[in-house]
Amino acid sequence: MTDRSQWIVLHGRASSLVLEACPGEAPLWRYWGPRLPDAALPAAPLRDSRPTPTFTVQFDQPLSLLPGLGQGWFGEPVLKAHRAGRDWTFQATDCLIEQDGQRAVVTLTDAIARIAVAVTLALDPHSDVLTVSSVLTNVGDDPLDVQWLAAAVLPLPAHARQVRSFTGRHNIEFVAVEDDLTRSQWRRENRRGLTSHDCFPGAVVLADGCAYGAQLAWSGNHCQLIDWCDDGRWQWQLGEALMPGEVRLAPGESLQSPEVLATCAADANGVAQNFHAAIRARMDWPGGAMRPRPVHLNTWEGFYFDHDEAALRDLADAAAKAGIERFVLDDGWFHRRNDDTTSLGDWWPDHAKYPDGLGPLAAHVTGLGMEFGLWVEPEMVNPDSELYRAHPDWALQVAGRPLITARNQLVLDLGRSDVRDYLFERLSDLLAELPIGYLKWDHNRDLTAAGERPSYRGQVLGAYDLLARLRAAFPAVEIEACAGGGGRIDAGIARFTHRFWTSDNIDAVSRVAIQRGFLQFMPPELMGSHVGAAPAHATGRIQKMSFRNHVALPGHFGVELDLRKLNERDLARLGEGIERYKALRGRLHNGQVWQGDGPDGLWWQAHGSAAELVLLVTRIEPQQQRHAPGLRLPMLDPARHYRIGDAVHHGAWLVQHGLDLPPLRAESGLVLELTAL
Ligand code: GLA
Repeated sequence: MTDRSQWIVLHGRASSLVLEACPGEAPLWRYWGPRLPDAALPAAPLRDSRPTPTFTVQFDQPLSLLPGLGQGWFGEPVLKAHRAGRDWTFQATDCLIEQDGQRAVVTLTDAIARIAVAVTLALDPHSDVLTVSSVLTNVGDDPLDVQWLAAAVLPLPAHARQVRSFTGRHNIEFVAVEDDLTRSQWRRENRRGLTSHDCFPGAVVLADGCAYGAQLAWSGNHCQLIDWCDDGRWQWQLGEALMPGEVRLAPGESLQSPEVLATCAADANGVAQNFHAAIRARMDWPGGAMRPRPVHLNTWEGFYFDHDEAALRDLADAAAKAGIERFVLDDGWFHRRNDDTTSLGDWWPDHAKYPDGLGPLAAHVTGLGMEFGLWVEPEMVNPDSELYRAHPDWALQVAGRPLITARNQLVLDLGRSDVRDYLFERLSDLLAELPIGYLKWDHNRDLTAAGERPSYRGQVLGAYDLLARLRAAFPAVEIEACAGGGGRIDAGIARFTHRFWTSDNIDAVSRVAIQRGFLQFMPPELMGSHVGAAPAHATGRIQKMSFRNHVALPGHFGVELDLRKLNERDLARLGEGIERYKALRGRLHNGQVWQGDGPDGLWWQAHGSAAELVLLVTRIEPQQQRHAPGLRLPMLDPARHYRIGDAVHHGAWLVQHGLDLPPLRAESGLVLELTAL
């Protein structure tokens, strides 16, 4: 009979975790995986059940919640810190465990190094997502330099095989990369200062019979690694990547890590569904609940910097006629902003383009029954701006080093309260004076040297602070997070925002894969997806309007082209696409999402539940086979019948044999509605 007081056990809907509490040291990771029966516990403490191998330290050191350094754990440590070269080894000497239902707080103190780390683990039974974060406190008398603090150390089983992570660049986000797990350490680190296009802060690990997912809720530098352990398991660490000297804790000071959202499910679709539920539960919508995602018109690719007030009014007229519900005035509206070389920081209307300010255009838009939205890029400054001329010291810089521009701009020091106050005032003026219901909040460069002492962390916290202040002052305003498209997509900024601009690449063919990666971590209602022009500006490729509509349908739908230039036929098609989106958005944005590869190059995704589904089937390349096999739909209930159009199909037939589809041309799609009878 095992002693229950010895275990920390958290059960979710379909997952469980078990830690073994050991007096005076960090609890040992025993299990994280598919749901165990309540009574299923290890038969014996771990150290009693494994013999000591040769040539090893005599105190067995299995993977713990807080693996230390220099005391017999030879894998990656959870913490790298020191006091002027001393107090660098870390091993808890005291452990306090407080458990309250689904939440456990484990406080570990090292009385020798005078360091305390409190790890909070909470397993939400609804989403099955485990939220983990760590707080490090310097309980010594001298400053503590911190180089690394993992937000979470998660165990992966010996049968984990492969890790799927996401890389990319501007215009090609969420490129999936699959690496086999081996004894070599797997590591992805981002030093670009924001979440980045290149390195999404999360991954999916595929194991035999199940899949694990984790993502870091943080919008700055980050690192994740998977490290092989002596017992054949792996540990997965995720945390904020700190630069040398970035964190020095004075006596009594603490470092709070970002949160890690982690989940175990049957497969990658289950991981995505759990993440969607967890992100939905964390969202802070105006009014407390999401309202149907309004159809956008964004002016960027249709107009760029060429703002002509009369033309924009005509555009608004055309937009309202087409059924658009939110008109977003993108870059180009503010003081002397005629291209990307000037004016970031000068957040007041350009009087040459808008002699009476933005009021008349905004009133025109709202008079047509649409919401008015505005683009801003608050964290940036152009050297050619009134702001920079007045406050050159506000830009992040290192004395003696060149000011490295990107897109002709520098980054403001958001760690300074005077800078944040200035930005709060400029944005508040706009939000108070104009009927603005929406901000598109951009961040169009990577950070280089972030300040005399590195303050990448300060940038992220400063941006969060500014966002929080604005949300509190203008709670009805929704915010879109954008960073040259998808450079800042993460669960950290999602606390303050309501939409991501997924990519500057609106080419519908490119978007299929980008959206597929996005949906692994984020729910579809946050996925900005636009119908762009043909040829697509990012790639030069031409796609039919029906295909552009099809690919934009499952996300938060928008239009980004000059509607006035569309021919009658395309305008009518676009109108149909908007109508279809409005009819389906309630179902597209509330249920679960499944995605998969069908036979012969088909791509499918289904939104809803096993009782009612919207199924999107997409073909990019021409069909290779004369007759395509059925499209198997594993999420359906094999015991029920389903109505699809006029026909009724047996669920088991659709699960096992699949749905027979009409031939699809290249770059086309089908949308089907399935209802269980
Ligand atoms: C970024 C965004 C675009 C657009 C431009 C404006 O590139 O991703 O959508 O807003 O900035 O300069």
